[in-house]
Amino acid sequence: MIQLEGLTKRYGDRTAVDGLTFTVEPGRVTGFLGPNGAGKSTTMRMILGLDRPDEGRVRVNGRDYVDAPLPMREVGALLDARAVHGRRTARNHLLWLAHSNAIPGKRVDEVLHLVGLGSVTRKRSGTFSLGMSQRLGIAAALLGDSKVLLFDEPVNGLDPEGIKWIRELMRGLADDGRTVLVSSHLMSEMALTADHLVVIGKGKLIADVEMREFVRHSSGVLVRAEDQGLLTRRLTEAGACVEPGAEGALVVTGLEAKEIGRLATEARVVLSELTPQRLSLEEAYMNLTRDSLEFQAVVA
Ligand SMILES: Nc1ncnc2c1ncn2[C@@H]1O[C@H](COP(=O)(O)OP(=O)(O)OP(=O)(O)O)[C@@H](O)[C@H]1O
Ligand SMILES: [Mg+2]
Repeated sequence: MIQLEGLTKRYGDRTAVDGLTFTVEPGRVTGFLGPNGAGKSTTMRMILGLDRPDEGRVRVNGRDYVDAPLPMREVGALLDARAVHGRRTARNHLLWLAHSNAIPGKRVDEVLHLVGLGSVTRKRSGTFSLGMSQRLGIAAALLGDSKVLLFDEPVNGLDPEGIKWIRELMRGLADDGRTVLVSSHLMSEMALTADHLVVIGKGKLIADVEMREFVRHSSGVLVRAEDQGLLTRRLTEAGACVEPGAEGALVVTGLEAKEIGRLATEARVVLSELTPQRLSLEEAYMNLTRDSLEFQAVVA
């Protein structure tokens, strides 16, 4: 389990991570999402004690990670796949990590085969492609057979077979009862893997929600009504979320069209449109993070 409480990191006058509080539970894959620069990597570095928070605290399995006697047995992490001594072979890179954490050498060969690098164990890692480096980083994360795993953008550079493989790997790790936190800036990637979503923007928590719940909220109903104010009140009382849509329409989430129709009839509000709409998860995510985008291309 990973527990963050008011975690904050400032770089000069910029707050990269701003009062983050959430818990990453074991037995499920938690997707950590946010646009570029949202603070995902900084948060992960603080979980691992590589960056010191200015405020707040993070505990891994109930204590500070830096206090773990054999850290790689506690948390397996892939942060930066290129952070490897390029002149070392894949096997030697993992061997020194294993030795430093009292992990038997045979585990190195096991994980190298597991990630599909069995045929290049004696190749220098500096000659690896991005996807191969990523696989080596995943091998390092798996080395300690730890109960907590962090992956920062693990699918970067992987081919479709590799992407499918890592999805299944993360699922298997969670099914084993491990705590799995995986970051991404792509919703589509998470939709297939994560059971739970933590979304951040500009360092702040935007959502901490079950994937199932997120999917439910990503489908809305477009409603046009004569007395919008009255209908909005009735729908809100019934637990729906009502937002203004295009051309004076309402977009209602959290209630089915049939239920909206019934409430409108009960309130004697005349409807001129009642259209179920299915947002893609990508659209739902974009709606959620629109106000937190920092780096946005200008379309000429
Ligand atoms: N060492 C550092 N010094 C100064 N600023 C930093 C440092 N590390 C991160 N930042 C700033 O903190 C903010 C968050 O960066 P971070 O790398 O955590 O974002 P991210 O969510 O991982 O983004 P991406 O999706 O691009 O990987 C950014 O504005 C970044 O410029
Ligand atoms: Mg990052």
